[in-house]
Amino acid sequence: MSKPQVHQFDAVIVGAGGAGLMAALHASKAIKVAVISKLYPTRSHTGTAQGGISAALANMEGETDSWEWHAYDTVKGSDYLADQDAVDVLCKEAIDAVIELEHMGLPFDRFPNGKISQRRFGGHTNNETGKPVHRACHAADRTGHMILQTLYQQCIKNQVNFYDEFQVVDLIRVGNEVRGIVAVELATGAFHIFHSKAVLFATGGWGRCWEVTSNAHSLTGDGAAICLRRGVPMEDMEFFQFHPTGIYKLGILITEGVRGEGGILLNADGERFMERYAPTIKDLASRDVVSRAIYLEIARGKGINGQNYVHLDVRPKTVNYYFEKDGESRRIDDAYIEAKLPDIADFTRTYLGIDPLKEPMPIQPTAHYAMGGIPTDVDGRVLLDTQGTTLDGMYAAGEVACVSVHGANRLGTNSLVDLVVFGRRSGKHMVEYCRHASLSPLPDGAADEVMAAFDRIRTHNGNTKPHVLRQKMQKAMTANVGVFRTAELLQNAQGILAQLQQEFQDVTIDDKGKRFNTDLLEAWELGCLLDLAEVTAVSALARTESRGGHARDDYPERDDANWLQHTFCLRTADGRYELSYKPVTIGRYQPKKRVY
Ligand code: FUM
Repeated sequence: MSKPQVHQFDAVIVGAGGAGLMAALHASKAIKVAVISKLYPTRSHTGTAQGGISAALANMEGETDSWEWHAYDTVKGSDYLADQDAVDVLCKEAIDAVIELEHMGLPFDRFPNGKISQRRFGGHTNNETGKPVHRACHAADRTGHMILQTLYQQCIKNQVNFYDEFQVVDLIRVGNEVRGIVAVELATGAFHIFHSKAVLFATGGWGRCWEVTSNAHSLTGDGAAICLRRGVPMEDMEFFQFHPTGIYKLGILITEGVRGEGGILLNADGERFMERYAPTIKDLASRDVVSRAIYLEIARGKGINGQNYVHLDVRPKTVNYYFEKDGESRRIDDAYIEAKLPDIADFTRTYLGIDPLKEPMPIQPTAHYAMGGIPTDVDGRVLLDTQGTTLDGMYAAGEVACVSVHGANRLGTNSLVDLVVFGRRSGKHMVEYCRHASLSPLPDGAADEVMAAFDRIRTHNGNTKPHVLRQKMQKAMTANVGVFRTAELLQNAQGILAQLQQEFQDVTIDDKGKRFNTDLLEAWELGCLLDLAEVTAVSALARTESRGGHARDDYPERDDANWLQHTFCLRTADGRYELSYKPVTIGRYQPKKRVY
């Protein structure tokens, strides 16, 4: 094995989505930073976020809003599991973060009065009336794409160093300090060490554990799995969000913005069933509520044509929704839908051959977002235990991190808020850290262990193909760790996953070369997914209550007396999982039953 090339920076940021780029932008003003991404940066998954980024700007004529209302909605949406001090930071700083993006040149849609356009989104309400409020700032239905492009342009302008198509495969940890990362250069297969004082993981989620997902193929949880293997616990992994409206069978996201613009969900009888499940806010209830409602409708035989899907209807002739034009209130029309939801119209025409102006769209819940992940404080510092011990120099932000602002269920649009608010805070904090820290020496053979693991996969000759194991894992997770769970299902999942971990030892790939060996990298990524799937099932089995995205048929009630706490799941050196718990930080809002 040839020796890895060593690079030195003050800080290394892994992942070039919204959180990574926001951190890079702020950190690079003061310290030497490298951004490492397994993709070309503008292909990062932030680019697929559609409907908007919430901030209580109250730009809609005649409406009031406040960051405290946004905070209350976030806490209620989280089923009271979010830490309320962190939620305050999220919602207060959202306002300034959106203005910062606007000043960077992000092409937001505009209201006729010239202010940033805002639309309604699930769970975002006027706290006095309980009715939906216009809070999601958006650029048509390409908000994430615009954020990504804007931040990337700013990073290029500020001469941030990018290492595109370098995949991080290990973290260099010595005691309670990090000293850099190990990465593989995709083009050559060569290993590189990035030696640094600080490391930020902004590597995104792991929706690819499930069969039907809105997540890109690249979302394999690499950063989280690497941390788990290096002794960092995972927080609240049992809470994985199923977005109500993925394209049937494909899982591709149909933004909640469709319902924000008046779209409605219909069952086989043409009934607007959300009126029964959430009488006040109906189709704009929080995602956990809507996804469960769709499942229950399908279970009672009300899926369309007896299949596993329902309809999302945004045809102007059926939707009773109005917008402002030339000082008048007008009923939405085809031109309005084409302007506000162009990508959605395009996706359904391309992938389904369905014109959403003429027909309703077939949708089903799709695995979408990890509420849990690497535990951090509000400055992105990674925590090693429930007492708040930090791993010095280590940061995480974005979906891979658990701050926790989303608790048991994230509100739509709050992922983009999370990226920019906590990406920025992490970038700034890394600057402070690097000013005071010195560059500790690399340990001998810092990359040896992971290089040997890669060589084993590349050269092993067995009978187990990664894609076969991946399919088995995805089926097991969908059937047993989906929208509804029971102890029996979760135990079943654990048994299957343990068996798949064994089979993974025999995994064999066809491409034995080094250059652009995606076969090898995908096999390694499968190992990450398997580890995170196990942590999810273990954490979910232990939580004997229903809360947010974790619905236990055998424990249908929320149990605040016993479970108002965060799960920390640590993998021990001998491969066992140890669970510990940390109380939720309660602030202004005492837990109460959620009514929508
Ligand atoms: O529905 C959506 O546009 C998704 C937004 C989100 O996950 O925040």
